[in-house]
Amino acid sequence: MPAQAVATAFQRHFGYTAPLLVRAPGRVNLIGEHTDYNLGFVLPAAIDKEIYFAVGLNSGSEIRLVSHDLNDCCTVAIEQLHRTDTQWANYLLGVAAQLQKRGIVLAGFDCVFGGNIPVGAGMSSSAAVECGLAFALDKLLGTNIDKMTLAHVAQKAEHEYAGVMCGLMDQFASLFGRPSEVVRLDCRSLEYEYFPFDTQASRIVLCNSGVKHSLADSEYNKRRQECERGVHILQQHYPQVKSLRDATLEQIEAHRGEFDDITYRRCRYVVEENQRVLKACDDLARHDLAAFGQEMYASHAGLRDDYEVSCEELDALVEAAQQVPGVFGARMMGGGFGGCTINLVAPDQVDNFIRQVGAAYQQRFGRELETYQTSIVNGVSEAIVSEQVAPNGQ
Ligand code: GLA
Repeated sequence: MPAQAVATAFQRHFGYTAPLLVRAPGRVNLIGEHTDYNLGFVLPAAIDKEIYFAVGLNSGSEIRLVSHDLNDCCTVAIEQLHRTDTQWANYLLGVAAQLQKRGIVLAGFDCVFGGNIPVGAGMSSSAAVECGLAFALDKLLGTNIDKMTLAHVAQKAEHEYAGVMCGLMDQFASLFGRPSEVVRLDCRSLEYEYFPFDTQASRIVLCNSGVKHSLADSEYNKRRQECERGVHILQQHYPQVKSLRDATLEQIEAHRGEFDDITYRRCRYVVEENQRVLKACDDLARHDLAAFGQEMYASHAGLRDDYEVSCEELDALVEAAQQVPGVFGARMMGGGFGGCTINLVAPDQVDNFIRQVGAAYQQRFGRELETYQTSIVNGVSEAIVSEQVAPNGQ
């Protein structure tokens, strides 16, 4: 049991007991990719792949961090908070630095964390790490920060300490998730609405391409710049357009000649994807999974052809999924360039789906396909250690 494991490791490392235990989930995104930083719509959910934390104040002036999974540690003085060469630690230090920037007086703390969110698979392990610590520090320091602000703290940590200019989706989903519901966030107004997700009708299955993406790898930030370029062009004619969320296809078409081909296609994708999210939410509310799935396929096509963030493996996984009976929809998920596809599959077809897509993947790429059947869970919360620890201590 992970909460128990980090609690035990905490005691071993730091010699005192009763840390605060927190769990922070990763996320899936049903539709609405690369729309968050364009202030559009996303439809994520928190899932049962989680990071567990044991955190305690240490009455000193140091931050002492232990990665249980990497068997590595990192110590930094509060007075000299800085980015380090230890990548995993930067997500945590970045959160502490953001709190400090907001005028919160930090205290020395110890933290052990570990979990089961595959890294680089598009399930937002980094957001879970950030959000879990932000939540824990808020509790321990008694700062009573609201969840939306915590999401922004975590997002800023990613910007400044990991160098990825991400939107708000991942941090929002990790903090605001609710069991059995997906949540549509309007990234401009920050209004959100929950929609029930009926697992009797469909399961969420993730297929991991095994291709490790590195969002920091400039391409993600480059997409952001390309979108800003598009906004800049549109603003000359439509001053009310502050982000691609405000733009329409008609506006883009009317000035197509002023766009270079890449900027044109990036902008078109974002505007269409926002429309797809709204349409897909209507489909979901009407329990029309077939229609919802069509939006997912269209989303993938846009990400592949216009936004150009897919890869051969992801495309092959979506194509293979499309051949299997009982699949409503499939698309690449998250930042792209690797990671997972998300598939909505009829419950009685899940085993067959895994078999068929796995076989197709094996045949084409000579690699075994890792899949995850996920369920939708609550956002970041305190973790409960069950009384009964299994004999092997897990
Ligand atoms: C990453 C980012 C998110 C979002 C997605 C693409 O997961 O962290 O903010 O932009 O990519 O939708």
